[in-house]
Amino acid sequence: MLEEVVRFLAPVDGGIYVDGNLGLGGHAERVLELCGPTGRLIGFDWDAAALALAAKRLDRFGTRILCIHKNFTAVKETLMGLGIEEIDGLLLDLGLSSLQLDAGGRGFSFKGSEPLDMRMDRRAELTAADLLNTASEEELADIFFYYGEERQARRIASRIVLARQARPFCSTEELVAIVEQAVPRKYHPKKIHVATKVFQALRIAVNGELDNLDRILADGATLLKPGGRFCVISFHSLEDRLVKQAFRENPLLDAVTTKPVTPTQEECRENPRARSAKLRVASRGRGGNA
Ligand SMILES: C[S@@+](CC[C@H](N)C(=O)[O-])C[C@H]1O[C@@H](n2cnc3c(N)ncnc32)[C@H](O)[C@@H]1O
Repeated sequence: MLEEVVRFLAPVDGGIYVDGNLGLGGHAERVLELCGPTGRLIGFDWDAAALALAAKRLDRFGTRILCIHKNFTAVKETLMGLGIEEIDGLLLDLGLSSLQLDAGGRGFSFKGSEPLDMRMDRRAELTAADLLNTASEEELADIFFYYGEERQARRIASRIVLARQARPFCSTEELVAIVEQAVPRKYHPKKIHVATKVFQALRIAVNGELDNLDRILADGATLLKPGGRFCVISFHSLEDRLVKQAFRENPLLDAVTTKPVTPTQEECRENPRARSAKLRVASRGRGGNA
């Protein structure tokens, strides 16, 4: 949804923009092209591999781009450290990059056999295997239910606790096998893999994704200039709900989109992963000091 984001963000020469999810730098590149010759972009990504690729791609923008290896929740203190008090726009493109999904080896995919890691920030201590091997049955069931909206959460948690008594979980393959066994055939979903929601839930828990989002939704609003735009692309209903609620209830923000903007059929054909994307946009109220 590159063009939609750019249309709402409306970058101007000299503006200061923040991209909280630099990823491979696709959105950042377009924003930098449009806010030239003097506009700047501060980009965050907590994944060192993604950040290195983005930095290389954006190198031609020189001092107009700053790539920061941090959680986007550090945006406020980071901007303060740079002497930036307000920004013209803030973009979040949540979730995983194609690099994280396709490069493999990090445990995000239930296809194949990979270590059960799932940390987007490899400096973090807790891996998905740690969580699966140490959380109580009740905690696991809550994670699957609340972060995966998985109706078979209790059955799955109980099977996991039983299985780990024999041998701790190490690989994605082992987890997939247990989920397949735990969920009776008649409850296997038709359109998605039976382990999809468990993988989503674990990833959200390992990376604290909803807490991070909550925090930047509140902090981001305070950083915007009056009229500045806040654009968020989310990929599942839990994220979208938080964004919708923040844009509706934060007194600093006015919702610009009433319904989420979704990708065109053509974009979904070209990139099937885009099909669950939802873009919501708000702007900082012109009153400004609410
Ligand atoms: C969907 S990709 C972004 C793609 C990017 N817009 C592009 O054009 O290439 C999401 C990225 O956000 C990063 N990310 C997710 N949560 C983050 C957080 N709390 N702080 C910093 N980076 C985060 C991930 O590591 C991933 O690289």
